[in-house]
Amino acid sequence: MRTVEWHDGRVRMIDQRQLPWNFSYIEYEDYREVAQAITDMVVRGAPAIGATGAFGMALAAYQCPAQVIGSAIEYLEVAAVILKKARPTAVNLAWAVDRMMRVAKDELLYTTKDVINAMLAEAQKIADDDVLINQAMGKHGAALIRNGDTVIHHCNTGALATVDYGTALGVIRTAFEQRKKFRVLLTETRPRMQGARLSAWELKQLGVPFEIIPDSSAGYYMRKGEVKLVLVGADRVAANGDTINKVGTYMLSVLAKENNIPFYPVSPTSTIDLAMPTGDQVPIEERSADEVRTPYGNPLIPEDYPVRNPAFDITPQRYLAGIITEFGIALPPFKESLPRMVERSTQPAVK
Ligand code: MRU
Repeated sequence: MRTVEWHDGRVRMIDQRQLPWNFSYIEYEDYREVAQAITDMVVRGAPAIGATGAFGMALAAYQCPAQVIGSAIEYLEVAAVILKKARPTAVNLAWAVDRMMRVAKDELLYTTKDVINAMLAEAQKIADDDVLINQAMGKHGAALIRNGDTVIHHCNTGALATVDYGTALGVIRTAFEQRKKFRVLLTETRPRMQGARLSAWELKQLGVPFEIIPDSSAGYYMRKGEVKLVLVGADRVAANGDTINKVGTYMLSVLAKENNIPFYPVSPTSTIDLAMPTGDQVPIEERSADEVRTPYGNPLIPEDYPVRNPAFDITPQRYLAGIITEFGIALPPFKESLPRMVERSTQPAVK
């Protein structure tokens, strides 16, 4: 299953808004629709929106009417701005779009057809690499899960949040494939219920034992001594290790520290943003109040009740036991270990 892919001149993605009730694909033939699909969370999850941004750029090249490279680049620059604006927090989107722009400007491309082919190949590589990277993180992280453990997992970080396989849920998947016996507590993840809808859907298909818990009950289970590990994804990791992830991650990390439970984000190096000194500089997306008032069309809160809806929060690096990357587990001090991991990502292959 690929969350997003190129299909016959279109970008095809699984419509995640419909899950778990209905599995369907949507196809787009205009990059502006792809940007809107990212904003509307047809596709979501940092690595998945990175790959979608890359395919969106390839689509922009494909639909571009320009006959000469100079005009095509101008067209692509506009597409890059529109796609990067679709969601502000996950750095993977800007990372992938900038990488596509660098390919478009390669001086060895002589015709607009060359540009289209090169951009399609690059988007495909970003997507294919994502799967390999997730599998590598799965191997590094699975060593932390022991027989008999209960693991708390937040949001959805699985195949649906990536191109395939997953980050934190990928670690859980690898441990399960290694025949370890453990249980997973999935936080619902209000207001969009990525945990209860999407992670549960994925684990059910894989056969991994899970239970869905209200977000607010995580502390109860931790204090009882049931929980041995907390695994989350990341939308952006700052140079000092501060981790920006789905709102509620910060609370989980503080509770984990209070209860002596190791807490790990699972983050590909494409999510590490060394240009951000700390998490406090990262833009945090505020989403529509209607997501809280009227979840999935069910009116719960009157329209005139004020609501705030931040999509992400910032977990200070001091709450992390380590950060699981495709090159191994980065340990504190992160200011030293993260640049080493990012440096390795510039080498040709994932080892
Ligand atoms: O708002 P979402 O659903 O895009 O948020 C997703 C998350 O916060 C994930 O934990 C994060 O993107 C990492 S997933 C591989």
